[in-house]
Amino acid sequence: MNLTVSPGKPLNGSLSLPGDKSLSHRAALLAAMAAGESRVENFLVSGVTQAMLDALTALGVDWLLRDTTLIVNSRGIGVWQPPVNPLSCGSSATTLRLLAGALAAAGIPAVLDGSGGLRRRPMQRIVIPLQQMGVSIEASQGCAPVRLGKSRLPLRAIDYALPVASAQIKSCLLFAGLAASGPTTLREPGPSRDHTERMLNNLGISVTSQRLTATGDHLEAYITRLEPPKTLVLPPLHLELPGDISAAAFLIVAALITPGSEVTLKRAGLNPTRCGIIDALQSMGADIQIHAAGEQGGEPVGDISVRSSVLHGTQVSGSLVVRMIDEFPAFAVAAAYAQGRTVIREAEELRHKESDRIMAMCTELRSLGVQAEETSDGFEIEGSGVVSGGVVDPHGDHRLAMSLAVAGLASSEPVTIRGAEIIHESFPGFRSALESLGAWLSQDER
Ligand code: S3P
Repeated sequence: MNLTVSPGKPLNGSLSLPGDKSLSHRAALLAAMAAGESRVENFLVSGVTQAMLDALTALGVDWLLRDTTLIVNSRGIGVWQPPVNPLSCGSSATTLRLLAGALAAAGIPAVLDGSGGLRRRPMQRIVIPLQQMGVSIEASQGCAPVRLGKSRLPLRAIDYALPVASAQIKSCLLFAGLAASGPTTLREPGPSRDHTERMLNNLGISVTSQRLTATGDHLEAYITRLEPPKTLVLPPLHLELPGDISAAAFLIVAALITPGSEVTLKRAGLNPTRCGIIDALQSMGADIQIHAAGEQGGEPVGDISVRSSVLHGTQVSGSLVVRMIDEFPAFAVAAAYAQGRTVIREAEELRHKESDRIMAMCTELRSLGVQAEETSDGFEIEGSGVVSGGVVDPHGDHRLAMSLAVAGLASSEPVTIRGAEIIHESFPGFRSALESLGAWLSQDER
């Protein structure tokens, strides 16, 4: 499907966001590990979360969706059935990595597989520490399919330094750590999102987080420690999920670059480990106001008001990269519409997402007349405020597709995104959200 976005009038209005993707994955999985009926409101209904739900069905877990309310009936992880066929995780690395940890805790054999895109993502990063825990697991050439054998429980307790800051690796090991003989200690070089820790704490499981700074050489470590519960029978969940800040990022950038816009996004998740995009955009001069509204399901929430702004170039590196790891495609569009140079460093991890986001974003922005250069661990954009139109390829990456669509809101000619159906993976309501604010989009089935 081709999606064409034409530059037009200002964006105005307010809207509610779909439920957070990361929280939806965790809520579905923890509900399946619990004994009893769980209810999750504002669940994200999308391609990637469907992959998680289908995998849970294959493990013998009952669930149903009523609009965006997920109801899960499970008898607990102890009665999960070994799946007969490989579990397809679609294009979702979160599904694969989190499920691997939960399956390790269940001790049952399974094969985890997915799309061609998912088969290119690195999996050794979960295989190595899980093997250290005594899990029987292997990944051919470090990628999916990932094969889990029947592991002997309890698993070994580990103290493990992650090679990269990653909530997916951390969460995988925390889920496995639920079935370990002692505490699991994980050390990360950056502040990856802490949703799993918050949700486990809400279920009465002790997970603590600590930040260590070695003053001499400026080394930082983010330490997470899980105390395994006495029993693996978890209580059911009753949660309403906050709106997805990563979905909000596209709409925030859309409002910033479209002159005359004024947009409010309601009940967005404002977890500090996810809000780096707001800090980065504000450092460019973005007019973004936050109206905090307390907590929802253990996560801070609030409304975000955005006005179109004159943006200037900025620099992003270090822990800010981790706190906005999914937002670089949208951020790159803001940088293209800014005046001056934006420099992203220490972001090599972007090469291992749904696409190589450094290469893909620079290539596509260049095809829209933007000066964008790759570096080994990031990219540099010389913003001029001018973006031409054209036809772009999202490289099979939902976040590229939405970011390039946003670029078309203020370009000199329309922008057409080929293969735009990929947007369904994380934000099926993207087009109607933009249209409700006044944007002009059209699609054809070529
Ligand atoms: C996610 C963590 C991030 C992010 C992904 C979702 C999660 O990956 O890019 O979209 O839900 O834990 P890493 O933690 O591997 O950086």
